[in-house]
Amino acid sequence: MRILVTGGAGYVGSVVVEELLRDGHHVTVYDNLSKGHREAITIGAEFVQADLLDRERLISALRQKEIEAVIHMAADSLVGESVEHPSKYYQSNVVSGLALLDAMSETEVRRIVFSSTAAVYGEPSRQPIEETDPTGPTNPYGETKLVFERALHWYNHAYDLRYASLRYFNAAGATTRCGEWHHPETHLIPLVLQVAAGNRSFIQIYGDDYPTRDGTCLRDYIHVVDLARAHILALDILEKRSAQYNLGCGGDGYTVTEVIDCARAVTGRRIPVQVGPRRSGDPAVLVASSNLIKQELGWSPQFHDLETIIASAWNWLKKNPHGYETVTSIAAK
Ligand SMILES: NC(=O)c1ccc[n+]([C@@H]2O[C@H](COP(=O)([O-])OP(=O)(O)OC[C@H]3O[C@@H](n4cnc5c(N)ncnc54)[C@H](O)[C@@H]3O)[C@@H](O)[C@H]2O)c1
Repeated sequence: MRILVTGGAGYVGSVVVEELLRDGHHVTVYDNLSKGHREAITIGAEFVQADLLDRERLISALRQKEIEAVIHMAADSLVGESVEHPSKYYQSNVVSGLALLDAMSETEVRRIVFSSTAAVYGEPSRQPIEETDPTGPTNPYGETKLVFERALHWYNHAYDLRYASLRYFNAAGATTRCGEWHHPETHLIPLVLQVAAGNRSFIQIYGDDYPTRDGTCLRDYIHVVDLARAHILALDILEKRSAQYNLGCGGDGYTVTEVIDCARAVTGRRIPVQVGPRRSGDPAVLVASSNLIKQELGWSPQFHDLETIIASAWNWLKKNPHGYETVTSIAAK
């Protein structure tokens, strides 16, 4: 297929692009590089550096590349920032997203896979979370993703725009070429590994009095390659209908302390911790039921154990101690 990947220069997007190319698809990355990295885009993909709100460039990319489906990953996704600047999140995750849907309608592209999030569930009353459980976002990030999901529902109804909405839990890990390099970094595994690498002096634990195995928050981690493969399976279901799936590895999940201990074992390095108070809005446990995508699409995670996930991220960081930043761009700072 001829696929446009918005946000394809970002962390998850770069791996989705790798997997699409591996399967023989024709890929165009559409990214404004506000957060992404030119170097993360695999050779073989075409690249349009532009913003989703640049209607002319967007329509022209969809038309000239004869796009058949879009994977929409471009977004702002920092929970804390979204609470401070909701306007930015409504703009980037809702207004820009609607601009994409309208451009797709205009060019008659009628298939979209959307990167949604576990944040649409807020603080769920039961675990593991199923797709039919009530949503109730507790921050503008989750809220704006949910608003876009609702727009997909109604565009589907009115314009036959088929969608697969994938609610990711915590993406982690790396491939040989592509890894996680965010500014600022807020995700636990890359932060812990930055401590192991000596780039940070300690890892902050937000609360150790939660009702979990060891008192620290428990989360569900999914290897970025397993996540990417789910997008490719989701493209197939769009031939028949729209769908919505959770994407995590399920099981018992891992606590913050278990992640840190595993990183110590994988890296053989010291990882000092500092325990502070809880952060508001952090649920004790967030674990996905991924039964639906397993049953309906035959998805099955290949890299679900934490050690494999952390080892892949560590290998990438050791090879790329400055991430995607070239020596010149670091010197220019
Ligand atoms: N990483 C996770 O654990 C996780 C979890 C749940 C959901 N998600 C969602 O998955 C998607 C990808 O996450 P990620 O961690 O790879 O994010 P990322 O920030 O690494 O990538 C996002 C990409 O989108 C681009 N972008 C942003 N706004 C744009 C715009 N208006 N026009 C064009 N390009 C734009 C950025 O330059 C960046 O390359 C996001 O939608 C995010 O909300 C991620």
